Amino acid sequence: MKITEIAESTYQLSVDVENILFEGLWEIPNGVTLNSYIIKGEKTAIIDGVCGWDGVPETLFSLLKELEIEPASIKYLVVNHVEPDHSGWIESFKKINSDFQILSSKKGKELLEAFYDLTENVTVVGDKDSFDLGNGHLLNFAEIPNVHWPDTIATFDQATGVLFPCDAFGSFGKCDGRIYAEEFSEEELKEYEKDTIRYYSNIVATFSPQVKSAIKKVREIPAKLIAPGHGLVWKDTKAIMDAYDAYADYQKGPARAEITFIWGSMYGMTEAAVKHALKVLEKEDITVHVHRVPEDSWGTVLTSVWTSTGIILAMPTYEFKMFPPMGAVLEEIGKKKALNRKAFRFGSFGWSGGAERELADINTRLNMGWEFLEPVEFKGTPSSEDMEKIEAQIKVLVAQVKETVNNKQ
Ligand code: FEO
Repeated sequence: MKITEIAESTYQLSVDVENILFEGLWEIPNGVTLNSYIIKGEKTAIIDGVCGWDGVPETLFSLLKELEIEPASIKYLVVNHVEPDHSGWIESFKKINSDFQILSSKKGKELLEAFYDLTENVTVVGDKDSFDLGNGHLLNFAEIPNVHWPDTIATFDQATGVLFPCDAFGSFGKCDGRIYAEEFSEEELKEYEKDTIRYYSNIVATFSPQVKSAIKKVREIPAKLIAPGHGLVWKDTKAIMDAYDAYADYQKGPARAEITFIWGSMYGMTEAAVKHALKVLEKEDITVHVHRVPEDSWGTVLTSVWTSTGIILAMPTYEFKMFPPMGAVLEEIGKKKALNRKAFRFGSFGWSGGAERELADINTRLNMGWEFLEPVEFKGTPSSEDMEKIEAQIKVLVAQVKETVNNKQ
């Protein structure tokens, strides 16, 4: 854990976390940095408390000691968002400090009761409210529901111009002791953005319309610094808001001029066609993300899908339906609402077919709006004629993707 003064009397307490599944589900190969903030006005408040992943707050308490802050002197907890990665420490905090006030949204109040049986000393704050910590630290609040739960608010300190938006503008990826985006080189930021897109697509993506609304509201706040609950702090507030605006737009598409190629194979028949397809794609001037299922996780596949305008699916029929890991990942992609992609599917027909039927069902049922080219299905081993058809369809798809993205610009 690390302490940094990011503005006058405003401290970031951060901890790098790795080797966990975020939300018990999403792999985070590069870990994540979780951030708490403390403002020392006449009164002391903690915002977005974190304490490691297990809810044990000893590390947080030792940092408070370093700051010469007695936990008992913290009288205000600003709970921007009740998800336990930000609130899980409150239970332990209660054992050493029974005299504190919580500031949260109306929905947050309900969730604090549901999660922790906290019903007393909770003050509801919202868009028009302010709270004075003294010494000029007047806090304003902006409701940004569903970024990422319905309870979420952002807190703005008028004294320092720091905006604390919790999950909004956050990222996966450990910061390794660095605090500001400006400490990263251009190359490092490009790499870091992959973790930001992983975070966005895995955690926030479903709520992209609400992200758009939140950004519109937050752009009106004269923030000098964006200090999220996860990842880097941004002095260039416009840069991270513009990036998030773009990620939200990718939901309805078009996204970038990229193709995600997801494939699975049982005995190598579909794989033989995949190898040919990859050779065809190598000759095309387009970025391609290739993922085999079930080997690659949902989160990894989703990260690529989010920025891709084109999708290629290759999988066999399996017991009258599609190869099950492909069905599972497509269901999740549909639930995250990666919509309106240009798509093409090929694969083994097995003895009965059925993959196409299930694919159409998922596309319709989840209102995905993916536009598919005519599929190529083969019985057993793909013939040279099948390979030629696949090659032709891939070239059509690449052209469609480029045209769609160009028309957007
Ligand atoms: Fe970082 Fe939605 O919690």
